[in-house]
Amino acid sequence: MARPRKLYIAMVGLPAMGKSTIAAKIKENLEKDDIKVGIFNNGDVRRRMIPGNTSHPGFYDPSNAQAVALRERIAAVNFAEAKAFLSADGDIAILDATNVSRKRRETLREQLPNHPVLFVECINDDPELLALSVARKTRLPEFADLSEAEAKASFVTRIGYYRHIYEPPHEVRDLVRLDTLNNRILAEHVSGDVPYYGRIRDLLMSDWIKNLFLVRHAESEYNVKDRVGGNASLTEKGRRQAWALSRHFIGTPLPYIFTSTLTRTLEMAEPLLETRKGTTIHHAFPEFDEIAVGACEGMSYAEIERDMPDLFAARARNKYNFVYPGGEGYATMAGRVYRGIKKAIYLSGNSEHIMIIGHQAVNRMILSDFLFRRAEDVPYIFIPQDKYFHIVSTQTKKLFELRKY
Ligand code: F6P
Repeated sequence: MARPRKLYIAMVGLPAMGKSTIAAKIKENLEKDDIKVGIFNNGDVRRRMIPGNTSHPGFYDPSNAQAVALRERIAAVNFAEAKAFLSADGDIAILDATNVSRKRRETLREQLPNHPVLFVECINDDPELLALSVARKTRLPEFADLSEAEAKASFVTRIGYYRHIYEPPHEVRDLVRLDTLNNRILAEHVSGDVPYYGRIRDLLMSDWIKNLFLVRHAESEYNVKDRVGGNASLTEKGRRQAWALSRHFIGTPLPYIFTSTLTRTLEMAEPLLETRKGTTIHHAFPEFDEIAVGACEGMSYAEIERDMPDLFAARARNKYNFVYPGGEGYATMAGRVYRGIKKAIYLSGNSEHIMIIGHQAVNRMILSDFLFRRAEDVPYIFIPQDKYFHIVSTQTKKLFELRKY
């Protein structure tokens, strides 16, 4: 069968909008079908051509003529390399750069006239995510000689320069605009002759969770008393379980571990973090905090049944929609938990493995995002404390496995 025509994909977007993750997602997935994909990243060419010294924001100042000329040269080298790749045996060349000015896109079009160009504009207007992504970027080796605050300021100034010259790509023929936090297509006009587009479009909307380990904290002081709410610590047994979890994952890189802000999940992560210093980034998200039980804070289920029989019965009748007075219910916590998942996936980029350490109700909600369970059944999903869920959710594979540690 004849191979489809070749394609350039040009990313468009401010720094830290998720462009490189999208590029990697397209490459990794299409290469499974022997489609040869190359990523041509302006940053890589820059670091190759001028080692050191380009992390200072002045290099991105549009009024700095010398730096502008240098960046044009970097882009030209990148275009030439992408073109050579397609002229040889490459199928898709992805130009991973900001490409935010109309002039830059016109130059791209002029220098790469031989195949269609699909522009993929990446948008993420979430200020919290932007701040977290900037913090992640400042860990790059190019910022090594700056303090964390200086590196952040430098990167934010860089983004500001790009924002200043940003012209939305209305003029291009083939464009898909993507909300990279929610995998949602915001706008699209793509002609019928863009090869591979059906496959790429589905990819842009699909989850890309290579390996998520979803863990519940081990036994807590409140668990043994059957109490809800509170901020209890792990028991001795729970601490031993935390070490068992850490031992179980020896040899598995975990670049990101996400927990709630509550003591029992932080303690659960401790042995993992202690044995992985410098290789694992930990985020404690309030989105993963356990269901707030309001008026029932600190009570056992038996006490709730005895002292608040109407409330107890109402919850039993409709557990999913029940809301604790002054607290939450499964239905009302859905939004924040799903946001936590999006944040975790976005921040961990194309990591092979990530871990979320949550709670009983929170983990039920996380699972329901992947499992399409009926709402009324979600509050009863079995969430053990000596096992974890291994979840894979990509365009080509879905896996849910409950494994012992
Ligand atoms: O009992 C542990 C716990 O995590 C509580 O903190 C929480 O209120 C409860 O589980 C949620 O489970 P359920 O909705 O079944 O009461």
